[in-house]
Amino acid sequence: MAKEQNSETSAATEESVCPECGGTGFIVDERGARPCKCRGTQVAQIRLRRARIPPRFMGKTLRSFQITRSPERRHIRECVENYVKSFTPRTLNPEEVSSNGLLLIGAVGSGKTHIAVAILREVIERGFTGRYWNIVDLLDELRASFDPNSPAAAWEIMEEIEGADLLVLDDLGAEAPTGWVHDRLYQIINRRYEDNRPTIVTTNLELRDLADQIGSRITSRLCEMCMHVPFPNVDWRRKRMMENS
Ligand SMILES: Nc1ncnc2c1ncn2[C@@H]1O[C@H](COP(=O)(O)OP(=O)(O)OP(=O)(O)O)[C@@H](O)[C@H]1O
Ligand SMILES: [Mg+2]
Ligand SMILES: [Zn+2]
Repeated sequence: MAKEQNSETSAATEESVCPECGGTGFIVDERGARPCKCRGTQVAQIRLRRARIPPRFMGKTLRSFQITRSPERRHIRECVENYVKSFTPRTLNPEEVSSNGLLLIGAVGSGKTHIAVAILREVIERGFTGRYWNIVDLLDELRASFDPNSPAAAWEIMEEIEGADLLVLDDLGAEAPTGWVHDRLYQIINRRYEDNRPTIVTTNLELRDLADQIGSRITSRLCEMCMHVPFPNVDWRRKRMMENS
C-alpha cells in the first residue's frame, strides 16, 4: 500500500474544517494526542481527486451498474467485485505473477468506462492510490511535455504512471497509430508489465484488431497482464435515449 505523504494530510486540513479536531487531524486532550477519524476520509478524498476521474464519471459506482435481466452484466459485476476485494498493488512472489489487471473489451456505450472508474474509486477507498487516463489525452500530454514551457516533464508523467497502485488506461486503440505513439504505448504498458503492476485497460477493439492497431508486442503483454472481460453489445447511451423518448 502506498504510504501517505504529509503534504496530503496538511492539504486536507486546509480545505475542510472538521468540527471534532478543528481541522488539525488530531484530537488533543488529557490522554494525549490521537488521530481524528476524519483523517482517513480526507486523505481518501485527496487521493480520489488525484486520480483525475472525469466529472461525468465521478458518480459511477459498481452498485449503479445495472445488471437486471442480463446474466452477462451480472457476471461482469461479480467478477469486478471479486477483483476489488482481492486487489493487491504488486505481486512480489514470482510464482504468483499472473493477470492482476483487467482488459475490458466491448462496443461503444457498453459500460466499460463506468466499470473501470467504479473499480478505481473502490480501490482508492480501500487505501490504495490510482490514476485514470484517457489514452488520447495521455499521449497528448506526453507529446506536449517535450516542450520546454510545458508544466509537466515527460519523466514526471511516467513516474505518475509507474507509481499508481492501479492505473486505468481508457479507450486504447482510439489513438492515431504512428511510430511515436507505438513507442510510447509500449513504454507505458511495458513498465507496468515489468513491475507486475495492475492495469485496467478499456478498448472497443477485439484482440485481433487491437494487435493491428497498437502492435502485437503490446497486445501480447496485455493478454498476460489482464483478465479478459467482454461486455455485451448494447449502447447504453442509445438505449436510455430510446427509453426516455
Ligand atoms: N449496466 C449499466 N448500468 C447503468 N448505466 C450504464 C450501464 N452501462 C452503461 N451505463 C451508462 O451508459 C453510459 C455509457 O457508458 P460508458 O461510458 O461506460 O461506455 P463505454 O463502454 O466506455 O463506451 P465508449 O466505448 O464509447 O467509451 C454511461 O453514462 C454509463 O454510466
Ligand atoms: Mg468509455
Ligand atoms: Zn477531524
